[in-house]
Amino acid sequence: MAQYTGTWSEAESRTYRDLSAYAVPRREEQIELMVDRVAATEASGDILEICCGEGLLLAALAPRMPEAGLLGYDGSDSMLEATRSRVPGDRLTTRKIDLADRSWRVSVRPLRAVVSSLAIHHLDGPGKRDLFSDILEMLTPGGVFVLADIIRPLNPASYGIAAKLWDSETQQRSVALDGDERGFAQFQAADWNHFHHGEPDLALNPDPIDKPSTLTEQLDWLRAIGFIEVDLHWMTAGQMILSAVKPQ
Ligand SMILES: C[S@@+](CC[C@H](N)C(=O)[O-])C[C@H]1O[C@@H](n2cnc3c(N)ncnc32)[C@H](O)[C@@H]1O
Repeated sequence: MAQYTGTWSEAESRTYRDLSAYAVPRREEQIELMVDRVAATEASGDILEICCGEGLLLAALAPRMPEAGLLGYDGSDSMLEATRSRVPGDRLTTRKIDLADRSWRVSVRPLRAVVSSLAIHHLDGPGKRDLFSDILEMLTPGGVFVLADIIRPLNPASYGIAAKLWDSETQQRSVALDGDERGFAQFQAADWNHFHHGEPDLALNPDPIDKPSTLTEQLDWLRAIGFIEVDLHWMTAGQMILSAVKPQ
């Protein structure tokens, strides 16, 4: 992923749409797992996806939760447009947001589920804590937060393992999808596997676009804020899926 100072741009949106079929490990498995976890909640209300991107997850949620309103929020016009094309119908509401801004978070309660994939790592640690806290407020009792995201490895050995696994996942996916390694070559050319670079040098780049937190600190923050049943469901290549429930 991009290693420069600044915010997500439309150029990143284009690169991500080109690369994501290869670069998101076991994407269909991740989406199915997230949908299953949302479907398992007994709470009622709408479903919000924070940073919905191209709308793949909302499109998978729509038939499984036929009575729920779907809220797709993102900061990219082209991503929101892609979501509207992919999830037609009057159940979808899209909104352009800045992830870091807290003002949009109060207007969407109560929700049965909040989901997000590969985006919340754009917030720093305190920003993630604030967002998790705001999500707890937005959820109806019994509602679930399902988060897929990259994590920050703890040491150079962990960075090396995450980098190797992500390359391997992408290489296999490239061959499975196209019968060759062009997709993997594209992933390498875009320098998307930031785990190869190890811990970012904050002296050189004090505000990187990617600010992942460790898995354990995110689990700890969710519990400390008041979520229950905080659970890790899936992890590979420095990427994880967890869920957390708002108490009744
Ligand atoms: C890596 S993509 C993930 C998209 C989608 N959730 C998925 O899993 O395929 C990151 C998404 O976050 C959005 N995004 C990044 N920074 C943002 C910000 N500061 N405010 C709002 N959206 C942001 C981008 O527009 C993009 O759609």
